[in-house]
Amino acid sequence: MDAASTAAAGVRGKAGGSGAFHTLPGVRIAGTGMALPSRVLTNADLEKMMDTSDEWIVQRTGIRQRFLIDETKGECTRTLSTTALRNACADAKVDPASLDLLIVATMTPEMSCPPSACRIAAEAGAVNAGAWDLSGACSGFVFGLNVVSALVRSGAYRTIGLVGADTLSIYQDYSTAGRGTSIIFGDAAGAVVITADADRRLGVLAQSMHSDGRGWKDIYVPEKDRDFPEGVEPDPRKIKRVQMSGATVFKFAVGTFPEVIEQTLDKAGLKASDVDMFVCHQSNARILQAARDRFGLSTDKLYINIERFGNTVGASVPLCLHELRAAGRVKPGMKVMFVAFGGGLTWGSSLWQM
Ligand code: UT7
Repeated sequence: MDAASTAAAGVRGKAGGSGAFHTLPGVRIAGTGMALPSRVLTNADLEKMMDTSDEWIVQRTGIRQRFLIDETKGECTRTLSTTALRNACADAKVDPASLDLLIVATMTPEMSCPPSACRIAAEAGAVNAGAWDLSGACSGFVFGLNVVSALVRSGAYRTIGLVGADTLSIYQDYSTAGRGTSIIFGDAAGAVVITADADRRLGVLAQSMHSDGRGWKDIYVPEKDRDFPEGVEPDPRKIKRVQMSGATVFKFAVGTFPEVIEQTLDKAGLKASDVDMFVCHQSNARILQAARDRFGLSTDKLYINIERFGNTVGASVPLCLHELRAAGRVKPGMKVMFVAFGGGLTWGSSLWQM
């Protein structure tokens, strides 16, 4: 019997097979997976499309390339999510049919109805799962970790799939978008399978979820003329195109990022040095480096992979987690803090005992 099944059986055994828990279970990240689309857009490609340079992009963001969906091949948030979820289930040695819930954190569903999660569940074989989408922009996956952890900890659900997936390229027009917006985003999906565990110490130690809607116009995707902020002339070329005040979001992130880390450590009664790994939204390498400097973290304690993927919105945190687990750099027994911020404005954290 694999570790996941043993743990689950242990928890069920305590309940005498009735399906109820005598005590609240621990919560374990049992598997991770990821999926990338087929097109690669390098800085050299962007140099041919607009007035920019590899040097500027690398210095200002750390990004060297990003992956984009190829719509002619049918690639979209749903297809990437399905692959990432299947991979996470295989990694966790969990049959997709035993997931009792699937949550997909995305701001780029194919349609507003049905929820993306329903088709993803059907295509991945998660036939017994309730399924719904969570809209939290770049913070969506970290918010999802907090929600899933609470649902499993409560005993109401035992095995949940959580996907973070975005294909922001559907909202990009490289011929009209600003240079800052054009260079940073990439498409991807990451997924985790989270299970109840007999070890009650496992799971979220401290978490936070914040928003400030007064900053909504710093990142938005207008659907209609009415969606342009006061003082901005509605422009048909900007409809369904991401609008971002990069420098404003940058300032917000540089300030908020260390603040939310500090608050989460305080809640848990821990110091930054007690945390084994910080897994953070990859928005810009300079923002991440500023957080490293602020807490005196060595480069191996705050992971950066933005050079290969760009800013993949809701997918960036699960992508990092998957790579770190695969490399043996996130392991059972570690304390790991997840942090994200983005459109809304939103920001939050999730500190786990793995
Ligand atoms: O995922 C969560 C939400 N998003 C973020 O966290 C993104 C945060 N923001 C950023 O990462 C950065 O603001 C950007 C990478 C988007 C832009 O970098 P920046 O250093 O903030 O540039 P800026 O918009 O303040 O522009 C500074 C200068 C401008 O030139 P002038 O007016 O000073 O002559 C821009 O036109 O840099 C110019 N510029 C570029 N030059 C070459 C902006 N983008 C480019 C470019 N290539 N791609």
